[in-house]
Amino acid sequence: MGNPFDFDDTSSVKVPSTLLEQVIGQEEAVRLARVIAKQRRHLLLVGPPGTGKSMVAQAISSILPRPTQEVSVLHNPAKPERPFLEVRTRPQIEEQVRGRPPAGLLMPIEQAPPFVTERLGYRCHACSRNSSPDAPLCPHCGAEKFRGGAGPFDDLVVGLGAPEREESVSTTRIMGGKEELVVFERFDDRCVRALDQKELSKLDHSDTQLPRNILLNLERPCFVQATGASETELLGDVRHDPYGGHYQIGTPPYSRVVAGGVHEAHEGVLFIDELVSLGRLQRHLLTAMQERKFPITGRNASSTGASVRVDSVPCEFILVAAVNTSDLRKILPPLRSRIGGNGYELLINTTMPDTEANVQKLAQFAAQEVRRDGRIPHASRAAVEALVGEARRRAKSVDHAAGLTLRLRSLSGILKMAGDWAVSDTAPLIEEKHVKLAIERGKPVEEQIMGRYGSAYKAAMSDWGLSNRVPTDDKNIG
Ligand SMILES: Nc1ncnc2c1ncn2[C@@H]1O[C@H](COP(=O)(O)OP(=O)(O)OP(=O)(O)O)[C@@H](O)[C@H]1O
Ligand SMILES: [Mg+2]
Repeated sequence: MGNPFDFDDTSSVKVPSTLLEQVIGQEEAVRLARVIAKQRRHLLLVGPPGTGKSMVAQAISSILPRPTQEVSVLHNPAKPERPFLEVRTRPQIEEQVRGRPPAGLLMPIEQAPPFVTERLGYRCHACSRNSSPDAPLCPHCGAEKFRGGAGPFDDLVVGLGAPEREESVSTTRIMGGKEELVVFERFDDRCVRALDQKELSKLDHSDTQLPRNILLNLERPCFVQATGASETELLGDVRHDPYGGHYQIGTPPYSRVVAGGVHEAHEGVLFIDELVSLGRLQRHLLTAMQERKFPITGRNASSTGASVRVDSVPCEFILVAAVNTSDLRKILPPLRSRIGGNGYELLINTTMPDTEANVQKLAQFAAQEVRRDGRIPHASRAAVEALVGEARRRAKSVDHAAGLTLRLRSLSGILKMAGDWAVSDTAPLIEEKHVKLAIERGKPVEEQIMGRYGSAYKAAMSDWGLSNRVPTDDKNIG
C-alpha cells in the first residue's frame, strides 16, 4: 500500500457536510437509512457500544422532511377533563390566524352599562363602586359582590342579595333603526369587551377562542431519544394539580397535558437505545406503532391528572432501536416481528477491511472528530498514522479480525485525549507522540492492571498490602 495520505494535517481533510456521509464503515446502514427515511420503515440495529448506532439514527432523522402537523389540546368548556385534540397543518394555521375574529370594542368599565358591570363582577351591588372582577368581596365596603362559584370557598360564604357572576352579558341596542344584539365580556380589571352582531357571527364559525396548549409545534426536532427510565417520559402524562383544576385557583386540565416521547417523535425518528431496558413498556410501544396514535392520560392514579384523558394523539414515528447481540432474545416477540414486518434488522460492522480507501476514511474520521470537539487542534499526518495503527491493533485484539476497528467511540476518545496533551503542550497540532501517550494512558484499567501487576490476583494482593508475597499455602493468607 502506498501512502494514502495527501495532507499535512487534518485541517485540509475534506469532511462531508451531511451526517449520513460522515458515517464510516457502515455502508449497509447508510444505504438502509436512505430507504427508511423515504419509505418510513423501522430499523433494529444490533451491535456493540460506540459503533455508530445513535449516529445512524440521527442521520435518518436529518434527511426526513420537516413536520407538517401541529398537534394541540384545547380547553373543552363543557368537560374540562376531556380536552379537544386538534391537528393543524401550516396552511390551516395561517388560515385560522387570518380569520381570527377581531378583539371587539374595548370599553372602560365606567362607560359600560352598570347592570352589565355588576353581572360581570366589577360593580358592587351595595355601594356601586367598581373593583377587580376576580375579587369576591368589595374592597370599598366589604360586601359580597357576587355568589355562585365566585370564590374558591364560595360554598362556605354565601352573600345575601349578591348577584351571580356571569361569563358574558347579552343586551340589545338600536342600530340604524334595527335592534341588534351586543355581548359584553370581561377583558381585564379595567375594561370590558363588546362584541356586536358582525363579530359574533365570526366567532360562531371559529373555535380559535378556545385556550390552546400546543403539544407538538412545527419547529420540533425530528429526532427524539427515549429510554425506559419512566413511563411518563415515553407515553406522556397529565400533571397533578393540587387544586384539582379549580377554575380560579387551579390549572385547567388542557394546560397540564404533556406529550410523551412517542408523540414528540410524530413524523420523525423515535430512537430507543437498549430496547430491552424498556421492559414491560415494550408492549405500549407496540400498541403505539400499531395504532399510530396513543392516548395521553395522567399516569399516577393518586394524581388529579388521572381523571384527564386525551384520546388518539397521533404518534406516527419511525422506530430506530438498538440492542446488544446478547439482548436480542429479550425483545418482546410481537414487537420484534413488528419491526421486521415493516422494516429492517441490521448487524452493525465492528471492523472494516484494511484498504487504502478505508485508511483515508479514518483520516476523515479524525478530521470530523476534531471539528466536532472544537477544543482540540488538528492532527498531523504522523498522528493520524499512529491512530490508524491503533485501529489495526484493536481490530485484532478486540474483534480478533484483520482490518481496522469500527469501535470508533473509543478511537475518538484517544484522539481527544491526545488533543488534550497537545493543548497542555501548547502545540499547534496533535503530534504522533501525543497519540502514543494517549494510547498508553487511555488503556482500560484492566489492561493497566495486567501491565503493572501481571495478574488480577497480584493486584488484589497489593490492595491488601501483600504485594510482594505470592501465597503458596493457607498460612500465607491473612
Ligand atoms: N461509524 C461511525 N462513523 C463515524 N463516527 C462514528 C462511527 N461510530 C461511532 N462514531 C463516533 O463515535 C461516537 C459515538 O457513536 P454512537 O453514539 O453512534 O455509538 P453507539 O453505537 O450508539 O454506542 P452506544 O451503544 O454506546 O450507544 C459518535 O458520536 C462518533 O463521533
Ligand atoms: Mg448510542
